[in-house]
Amino acid sequence: MLGIFGARKTFFAGTASQRVALDEIDLDVRPGQFCVLIGSNGAGKSTLLNAIAGSLRIDTGRIAIDGTDVTAHPPERRARLVSRVFQDPMVGTAAVMTIEENLLLADLRAGPHRLRWGLTAARRSAWRDRLALLGLGLENRLGERVDRLSGGQRQAVSLIMAIRGSPKLLLLDEHTAALDPATAAAVMEATVRVVREEGLTTLMVTHNMQHAVDVGDRLIMMDAGRIRFSLDAAEKKALGVPGLIAASARPTTASCWPSECWPSSTASSPWCRSASCRG
Ligand SMILES: Nc1ncnc2c1ncn2[C@@H]1O[C@H](COP(=O)(O)OP(=O)(O)O)[C@@H](O)[C@H]1O
Ligand SMILES: [Mg+2]
Repeated sequence: MLGIFGARKTFFAGTASQRVALDEIDLDVRPGQFCVLIGSNGAGKSTLLNAIAGSLRIDTGRIAIDGTDVTAHPPERRARLVSRVFQDPMVGTAAVMTIEENLLLADLRAGPHRLRWGLTAARRSAWRDRLALLGLGLENRLGERVDRLSGGQRQAVSLIMAIRGSPKLLLLDEHTAALDPATAAAVMEATVRVVREEGLTTLMVTHNMQHAVDVGDRLIMMDAGRIRFSLDAAEKKALGVPGLIAASARPTTASCWPSECWPSSTASSPWCRSASCRG
């Protein structure tokens, strides 16, 4: 579904402030996979999402979505394939418009050009179905202005807007980070439900290690523009939050860095694929 081959991005190349944000990234995400992306600040997570969405061009490498090489495609050409939700709840929705007007905009943006403007009964019914998935009661508040909603409710509406038109790929960049813990948990729960229900291929950035362990079926850890390790659901559950924190803190100079060592420190560990691993 998503293929990234040797992606590289350097900011301020050739100057004293040069920064390699993506360093030869290879990534293969299969259809329907829900990937969680973690890594310290500056690891390159947002740059990777920007590169996939096309808001940022990579210097070298290729990106393919659903079998199409989109490397040279501008963001508007990728918009039907890729949808995003950002960290700031104010960004995804238009404040002075109602929930249903926002959803209509999302439908018109995602659908074919011939799609007609109009708040039809069929549309309202489809929106209610989708909003009901969130479990927040928003399906009964279609006519309410978005600026009357809480940050978490706005983020939930942004999520439903993002999935209208069945994107091939959903990108979530710390979309619960600006919310209080209870609201963040509710939006995360809604995210899991929506992603599963729609079978969406998803890349979600989070700093919440508990979410990283509990949510999704693959965990990818980035560091200094590289993918440091990738774990499947069973591997990350077995590691747990303390194991994940320890793995993330492991020095990048370990002998089998970068590709073969899984987050444990000894060769006898089931995570390590390298016989020469010395941690
Ligand atoms: N538009 C930009 N201009 C210059 N440097 C940038 C830009 N975007 C990101 N960077 C740099 O690239 C690196 C990766 O940033 P980013 O992808 O935002 O990290 P993350 O999302 O993992 O915190 C950082 O060093 C950051 O300062
Ligand atoms: Mg970021």
